Amino acid sequence: MAISTTARTESSSISSVSHPLDPLTPEEIADASAILKEQRQLGPRVRFETVALREPDKNVVQGFRPGDSIRREAFLVVLDNDGPATYEAVVSLDERRVVSWEHIPGVQPRVMFDEFMECEAAVQADPRFRAAIKKRGITDPSLVMVDPWSAGNYGYEDEEGRRLVLCRNFARSSPTDNGYARPIEGVTAVVDLNSMEVVRVDDYGVEPLPPESGNYSAEFVGRFREDLKPLEITQPEGPSFTVDGWKVTWQKWHLRVGFTPREGLVIHTVGYEDQGRVRPILYRAALSDMVVPYGDPSKDHYRKNAFDAGEYGIGSLTNSLTLGCDCLGEIHYFDAAMNTGRGEPFTIPNAVCMHEEDYGILWKHTDWRIGQTEVRRSRRLVVSSVATVGNYEYGFFWYFYQDGTIQMEIKLTGIINTAGIPEGETPKYGTIVAPQLNAHIHQHFFNFRMDMDVDGEENTVYEVNTVAEPPGPDNPHLNAFYAEKTALRTELEAQRVIDPMTGRYWLVSNSKVSNSLRQPVSYKLMPGENILPFAHPDASIIKRAGFMTKHLWVTPYHRDEISATGPYPNQHPGGAGLPEYTKHDRNVENSDVVVWYTLGYHHVPRPEDWPISPVAYCGFSLKPVGFFDTNPVLDVPPSAHHDGACHP
Ligand code: NI
Repeated sequence: MAISTTARTESSSISSVSHPLDPLTPEEIADASAILKEQRQLGPRVRFETVALREPDKNVVQGFRPGDSIRREAFLVVLDNDGPATYEAVVSLDERRVVSWEHIPGVQPRVMFDEFMECEAAVQADPRFRAAIKKRGITDPSLVMVDPWSAGNYGYEDEEGRRLVLCRNFARSSPTDNGYARPIEGVTAVVDLNSMEVVRVDDYGVEPLPPESGNYSAEFVGRFREDLKPLEITQPEGPSFTVDGWKVTWQKWHLRVGFTPREGLVIHTVGYEDQGRVRPILYRAALSDMVVPYGDPSKDHYRKNAFDAGEYGIGSLTNSLTLGCDCLGEIHYFDAAMNTGRGEPFTIPNAVCMHEEDYGILWKHTDWRIGQTEVRRSRRLVVSSVATVGNYEYGFFWYFYQDGTIQMEIKLTGIINTAGIPEGETPKYGTIVAPQLNAHIHQHFFNFRMDMDVDGEENTVYEVNTVAEPPGPDNPHLNAFYAEKTALRTELEAQRVIDPMTGRYWLVSNSKVSNSLRQPVSYKLMPGENILPFAHPDASIIKRAGFMTKHLWVTPYHRDEISATGPYPNQHPGGAGLPEYTKHDRNVENSDVVVWYTLGYHHVPRPEDWPISPVAYCGFSLKPVGFFDTNPVLDVPPSAHHDGACHP
């Protein structure tokens, strides 16, 4: 289908480096893995999980001036399938040498995309698997979709130390058929990814395939509603942002875009121009990890959960976006350079989309005595990317508003995960979304790591609750209530959950810098829709994804503390990441704080989510509180063709 658009697009070059935070170029990725292969004599059985920029120390970034020389280092994680063994390496690209090389015992790197493909082929070819699907009337294994799920860690001795995935399988009638309509219930192939061998095929008993196909693509839908008129976004003078490499300036905002294979979109060095200088707000923000625990206890469905960043590398699964479809208007695209499992570079063109959106009114007042109306239009800068992780799509949208607000919105769509169910049964732990098709209840937990620098590095986090004044001399008319601010001084004090009934939010303040009202300059973290996990505290998934149990975590900045689940969540027994980082209850008062926000999206599936889910939204925002002296958007001009007078 041709979509006409008048908009222009541009994309950034990813093959030049002008700043220490610029992601590795394809050439640098190729160089880094070639240097490591050569200097460590790595053979063909070594897979490259990560080849990414080793971000320089903060002081290097902050002291950098355009034209300064830039030292480039790559961080690599490799898996030797023969060992099997995992190694971390740092390669200096300037000196063309391996700076460090370390064996990391007892860990499993992420499941790599190449492994997905090889694993599917191994399962399709396995005689035990072929026999199991034949019992279910499926004769063409090449049409079976094999989805490898991370195995988790349930303490089973025979799984100890092996690199395993559990393959859940779906039957298609043709390559374009939606396989998720026909889960092959009761068959799971367990694959050792090091040897790429099918370890065993579990068969929990035959259940018939659901009868209906669940196709949603245009070729199957065929008939479309006919009452949609064209809607075009035009910016005849171009967008209001400027882009220099990965640096973006938009009105008063200054920020850098980045991208990693594990986290996907990263936002760096965010500041807002005020009082003649760029005032820092956020040093680095990204999804640190996410997990989707499912609630069905039967067969092996109890093992269904997936850490889409830490176990699969959501950045490397990012979509190439299309003008007129994913993005509308005057678009700037950033390409992302990633690595294959063999250490070769590949590019995801248009991995990040950036554009401006009209966002309704910014502010308005009508002076009803004199009939004068002042109104301003709001506009936001959108920096976004979308990843496909198996059946699901996740869109990550950072919004920057003119008034200093930063918002993260997650868009959840794609295909819900399904299981078969006998005719006539009503599932307790799921919803029937089509005949004999059960969609299990589940939750999506995201954790965002935000290295806050509100007007400098020394920040303190406060919790603000609104309290009803008890009756008494201060409250004779019983109407009184007030906002109460409590400092969260240490890591354990700062492990908090939301409380919508007290209007709870968290404030990141700089006590050394005040606004003109002598208030400490601050930004508040405003939670949105949120929830806690329902798995029992002793459940494996709670130990492995301990970050889910608190919505707020605060840590002092540490270069290596990047993920809520630790560096290697795949098959990890638990306790890593935030629970471990915060164990020593370090001071976080007046320090370079990193704020970690956990966001749970609760999903009780609906028939309307099938065969493909309309976008569901969740997120949070960061809003200035006394960061400015007054409303910072009085200077947004009235809409030009109205001269400020918006009369009917
Ligand atoms: Ni869901």
